[in-house]
Amino acid sequence: MTVRLGDIAPNFDAPTTQGDINFHDWLGDSWGVLFSHPKDFTPVCTTELGYVAKIKPEFDKRNVKVIGLSVDSVESHLKWESDIGETQGTPVNFPMIGDTDKTVANLYDMIHPNASDTMTVRSVFVIGPDKKVKLQITYPASTGRNFEEILRVIDSLQLTAKYKVATPANWTDGDDVIIGGAVTDEEAKQLFPQGWTTVKPYLRVLHQPGK
Ligand code: BEZ
Repeated sequence: MTVRLGDIAPNFDAPTTQGDINFHDWLGDSWGVLFSHPKDFTPVCTTELGYVAKIKPEFDKRNVKVIGLSVDSVESHLKWESDIGETQGTPVNFPMIGDTDKTVANLYDMIHPNASDTMTVRSVFVIGPDKKVKLQITYPASTGRNFEEILRVIDSLQLTAKYKVATPANWTDGDDVIIGGAVTDEEAKQLFPQGWTTVKPYLRVLHQPGK
């Protein structure tokens, strides 16, 4: 199945390292990050899961629940978790789905047969409180993800959900933003009485609202 931006994230029931879940119920009113890794007991994945565990407070601060997945079993994940805690310095503090029958992998198109027909690719889905898919990125097995980038996109998504703005290239929280293209100057005067700089009629730069 293909999952596209704006689609409702497919719901599923699955076993995890923290008990059985129904995905939508587990998300509740939170934002969510669902990310897959190719295989347990592999080096890049070990560093990724350790890093996510370390920065979990950053996800918590943003009201984002994080959940991992591979087609290995929950029992395998649990055995591997002790290695991750030992080698990466932070115990895994979020659930990992044991997707042995590939239900979730198939729902989210996480198996790309021309890359591998047995392992999931490194997918990342960010899901909003409305259960809609806001971001998806796919990395190859050989490249560990940059989770700071995931946090950066979540900051942008949360800001642009609140204000009619967009964020420019390489934006990080606190940088100037751009007034959304659909906002007329008349509307912008109401929305942003603090004013903005018009670089071009289509490029209006504004201090980040709320900062
Ligand atoms: C890794 O996590 O190190 C990895 C997993 C599958 C294929 C290649 C690398």
